[in-house]
Amino acid sequence: MAGHWGNLYDDEDIPAGEAGAMQVVRDVIFAMMNTKVRPVQRVEHASAAGVVRAAFEVLPDLPAEFRHGVFREPRVYPALVRCSNAANRNQASKDTHGMAIKLFDVPGTKVLPDEKDATTQDFLLVDCPVFFIRNAPDYAVFSRKALGAFRLSQAPVIRSLPAGVGQLLQLLYLVPTYLLWHPHEAKLLMQLRKKPPRSSLDTTYYSSTPYRLGPNAVHWIARPQSINGPPPLIHFDDPDLRRRENRLRAALVSQLRQEDVAFDFCAQVQTDREAMPVEDPTVVWDKTLSPPRKVATLRIPAQEFDTPEKRQLALSLSFDPWHSLPEHQPLGGINRVRRTVYVAIADKRRELNQVPRREPDVEWLRREWDGASD
Ligand code: HEM
Repeated sequence: MAGHWGNLYDDEDIPAGEAGAMQVVRDVIFAMMNTKVRPVQRVEHASAAGVVRAAFEVLPDLPAEFRHGVFREPRVYPALVRCSNAANRNQASKDTHGMAIKLFDVPGTKVLPDEKDATTQDFLLVDCPVFFIRNAPDYAVFSRKALGAFRLSQAPVIRSLPAGVGQLLQLLYLVPTYLLWHPHEAKLLMQLRKKPPRSSLDTTYYSSTPYRLGPNAVHWIARPQSINGPPPLIHFDDPDLRRRENRLRAALVSQLRQEDVAFDFCAQVQTDREAMPVEDPTVVWDKTLSPPRKVATLRIPAQEFDTPEKRQLALSLSFDPWHSLPEHQPLGGINRVRRTVYVAIADKRRELNQVPRREPDVEWLRREWDGASD
């Protein structure tokens, strides 16, 4: 089945109604964008612990099945890593936590026709091995209810209350309208609400949806190398960093003043099409069926990153699973929905913020990012 996706993986299967469902999801995301504030923030994953400089070191001597795309040769890619909260602006609350990695200086034609000459490769991960919804039609059903919950939380009287109240109301709205009728999704949604880690660099992240690695399908997993936990928190004079809602930012600033951090970046290859499906990200890919194999080291050196200049630059960035080489193309229905959402919403955000809409390159990284004052 080729369709407009062209290069479909042979295990991909497009369900009836997917195109219409994608349109619903896209419309809902746009309806949730707050275009009145400046600068306009991301609709999801708006709150960030920070964007930090990193290096992605591909291991030498990888077996042939792993040597595709950026893993073809041992080399070091300069990188940026954004650590985020998915839904909650209060970083002390339960939430899903994101790690978005952007590699620079990546040669080769990219998947998105409008960005085929870009030199970046992104990997988006969260701190849970599964997503809570199976496919686009199911996501459209959830999206409609989520929009109702969102509108409720935007009522002027609710907005005047602390942010946590709106969040709680959204959940209460979803209980009778969606969660009670969808117990499988409800259970997974609760699993996705994790207690905040001690630091954003002290937890394991998963792609939770599949990607190509050459001819195979894989899940990506990033595991912190240190098992000792982050160093003790520094006491900050900055009142902003002492606020509970900025807890993960404070922890990240503190940790990266004191130490370097490294993650093992792993690929878990699909070895069983039934037990490790491509079209259902609510299924955990069993590690005993296919142990994750380390393919790279993600190094995050000690640094000062929390400056107004870098925060400004970070807002102009878009992390998108479709910023990709064909060798790592996103797979499955949830990733196909993301293709229609991320580019459009990031373009709108950057247009409203009057910042460039193109992918940055390594010159930008060295000139703008590394040149921005520490
Ligand atoms: C249909 C399902 C999904 C939709 C509609 C969706 C939507 C979005 C949107 C609108 C953004 C903000 C993009 C921007 O403004 O630049 C975002 C960011 C993000 N999403 Fe998703 N998402 C979905 C599934 C997932 C899944 C399965 C993951 C698992 C890894 C994920 C991880 C992330 C991360 C880590 C970010 C933050 C990127 C950054 O730091 O800029 N999303 N998502």
